[in-house]
Amino acid sequence: MNNRKPFISGNWKMNKTIAEAVDLVKQLRNSLDGINYADVLVCPTFTALFNVADALSGSSIMLGAQNVHWENSGAFTGEISIPMLKEIGTKYVIIGHSERRTHFKETNEMLNKKLIAIIKAGINPIFCIGETLNEREKNETETVLEKQLREGLINIGVNEINKITIAYEPVWAIGTGKNATPAQANETHAFIRGLIGKLYNKDIAQNIRIQYGGSVTADNCKELINTGEIDGFLVGGASLKPDSFTKIVQSSQK
Ligand code: PGA
Repeated sequence: MNNRKPFISGNWKMNKTIAEAVDLVKQLRNSLDGINYADVLVCPTFTALFNVADALSGSSIMLGAQNVHWENSGAFTGEISIPMLKEIGTKYVIIGHSERRTHFKETNEMLNKKLIAIIKAGINPIFCIGETLNEREKNETETVLEKQLREGLINIGVNEINKITIAYEPVWAIGTGKNATPAQANETHAFIRGLIGKLYNKDIAQNIRIQYGGSVTADNCKELINTGEIDGFLVGGASLKPDSFTKIVQSSQK
């Protein structure tokens, strides 16, 4: 068994009004406050962050955001900066989710700027990588992941990489109800860990946490987490309901 503490994150995407978000975290506090076998994070929309931070006061559940700009301020209409997130108490930011890459054309170069700025500011990124169905079918999974990692991690050294959590999210599994099989996920996670070992060193590779994301549910989580290489989850749909998210967190107890 490894020493990596399981890490379960809820990516709420563009869901929940402020009132609904506060209601959800209140319910999550009832079931998850004070657990010590896993790190638990919720990532609401920007508009709900402030109120959710307030509702999480004194809780072990941590607060994250779904995106951020790399500049501290300026003429970037519609964007949110790192100091704004820090002021609210945001501990993590999801970077490079496939929906950001696909719908909003975020490139590896942009994601690299974001990662560097976030780490410099003392916040922890969850860096998402993943292949499309077409790429998997063409046997390009490893090439695609290697490019995303190499280009995303440019100028991020041994002292910075330990701030990053990687989320492996096969694009074909996100929101489709079609999760990667435990064997597929385990094999890909092992590949990613091996690559981190090559880019950095064995110690770093052993310690870095790699979440799996893509149609994780209360029913399939146990089998996935038991594979050994999966250190937790980035959960979309199933994180919107207190019962299923709680069960997913509980499944990670070693
Ligand atoms: P899903 O989303 O759990 O709804 O598939 C996962 C994600 O996009 O992070």
